[in-house]
Order: sequence, then structure tokens, then C-alpha cells
Amino acid sequence: MTQQDLARDIGTIAVVGGTGALGSGLAFRWARAGLKVVIGSRDAARAAEKAAEIGEKANAAVSGDANAAAAAAADLVVLSVPFAQRDATLESIAQHLAGKILIDCTVPLVPPKVGRVQLQQAGPAVMQVQDRLGENVQVVSAFQNIGAGLLQGESDEIACDVLVCSDYKEAAETCIALAEAAGLRGIAAGPLANAVCAEALTSILITINRKYGANHAGIRITGLPEGGSAA
Ligand SMILES: NC(=O)c1ccc[n+]([C@@H]2O[C@H](COP(=O)([O-])OP(=O)(O)OC[C@H]3O[C@@H](n4cnc5c(N)ncnc54)[C@H](OP(=O)(O)O)[C@@H]3O)[C@@H](O)[C@H]2O)c1
Repeated sequence: MTQQDLARDIGTIAVVGGTGALGSGLAFRWARAGLKVVIGSRDAARAAEKAAEIGEKANAAVSGDANAAAAAAADLVVLSVPFAQRDATLESIAQHLAGKILIDCTVPLVPPKVGRVQLQQAGPAVMQVQDRLGENVQVVSAFQNIGAGLLQGESDEIACDVLVCSDYKEAAETCIALAEAAGLRGIAAGPLANAVCAEALTSILITINRKYGANHAGIRITGLPEGGSAA
């Protein structure tokens, strides 16, 4: 699919929490790839300021608005806020998500031991998001294992894979295309229940970063056929 086709198919992407590290990096990459992006923030003025900064860097038009207005204006919404703020932020945008794809990037880290895997008894945290929103919203889990700093760089390709989990195949395919537009490789990693592994991996990558003095440890899936795509 060409970038023009992708831009037409996806429409407007709202990055809720797009003023932050991960959200602004994704927004930059997508804007640079010709996709239409609106930055969401609790503060519309802060969103507009960050949107102008990203737009200048990406040489593209990027807009900014309050989280709810950004979600309302979008065809696809990305949630990128600290986990402790996930539910409150979700409540503030939930009414604008019907019929849309929601990509959840949040990781259920439990400070201060963010380098320790702390699985939730209820399964992957993202499942609570799908349960809260119901079948009318196609929830996808992705981007938990990408260091935000990598996205701020100018290189076209980033040597990291993105595990994409969803109970909706087409929504997962859309997210894989978005990962690729950002210069990453998206991997179809199965149903939303499997997102528990991507959520847990973040703590392992944080630990690896600390032990090896790295900043952006990531993962690569090996053994895939050259140029192959998911069945
Ligand atoms: N950083 C990474 O490398 C990375 C990588 C993979 C996954 N993640 C996950 O992605 C999510 C976002 O990470 P991040 O590093 O981008 O987070 P962040 O920069 O700390 O925060 C993102 C945005 O969330 C909003 N926010 C902050 N505190 C809030 C509060 N108390 N209530 C409501 N909104 C608040 C802020 O936007 P406004 O103040 O403008 O509203 C902020 O710019 C997290 O769940 C994280 O675990 C991060």
C-alpha cells in the first residue's frame, strides 16, 4: 500500500497524550510519512504548541487540541499516557471512540520497581480497555517495546519490532501498516490476550537498558520469511 493510500484509508489519527515522549515520537513519524495527525493533551494550548513543534520538524501540517476534541475529530485514536492516568484519560475520550480503532500503548508498570515484571491477575491490562469500551471499539495493543527516543531520530528505518495484538484482524493490519509508516516492523502477534507478553517485556527491556548502559533496547523476531506478511 502506498503512503497516499494509507493516509486516505486511515484518515485522521489522534494521539492522546501526544505531548509526551512516546506519543510525540509516533506523531512525528506519522506526520513525516504524510499521515494526518492531531495531538491531544489535557491542555489544548499545550497540544497546539507541541503540534507546531512536531509539524516544523516533520515538514507537515499537524494540529493540536484537547484530548476529547482530538479523539472526536479522529478516525483512529492512539492512547499514550502514563498507566496510572489511563482509566481517567479513557473516560474523558470514551464517548468519541464508537466505531473507531483505539491503539493502546500504555504499559502497566508499577513504580518504583519498573524493571520487574508485575503481571496483573486479571490478565493483560489492555483487556480492561476492550471490556470498558465494548465491541463497538476495536482495541489494538502495540508500541510497548519501542524506546520513545528512537522515534525522535531522522533515520527512515528503526531496527525494532512492534508486537501487535488485537481481537480484530483488520484493526491489527492497520496498526502494522502504521508501525511500518513509522519506520518499524509490525508483527501480528495474535489476540489481545497475548498482549500480556508485550506489556511484561517492557520491564525486561528497562532492566536490560540499565544493566548494559543502553537507552533503547528493543526486540527483533527472527526466522520470518523474507518480505513475508501475516496470513
Ligand atoms: N517513553 C517510552 O519510551 C515508552 C515506550 C513504550 C511505551 N510507553 C508507554 O506509553 C505511555 C506514554 O509514555 P510516555 O513516556 O510518553 O509518557 P509521558 O511522556 O510521561 O506522558 C505522556 C502524556 O501523558 C499526559 N499526562 C501526564 N501526566 C498525566 C496525568 N496525571 N493525567 C493525565 N494525563 C497525563 C501528558 O500530556 P498532557 O499533560 O499534555 O495532557 C503527557 O505528555 C506510558 O503508558 C508508557 O508506559 C512509553
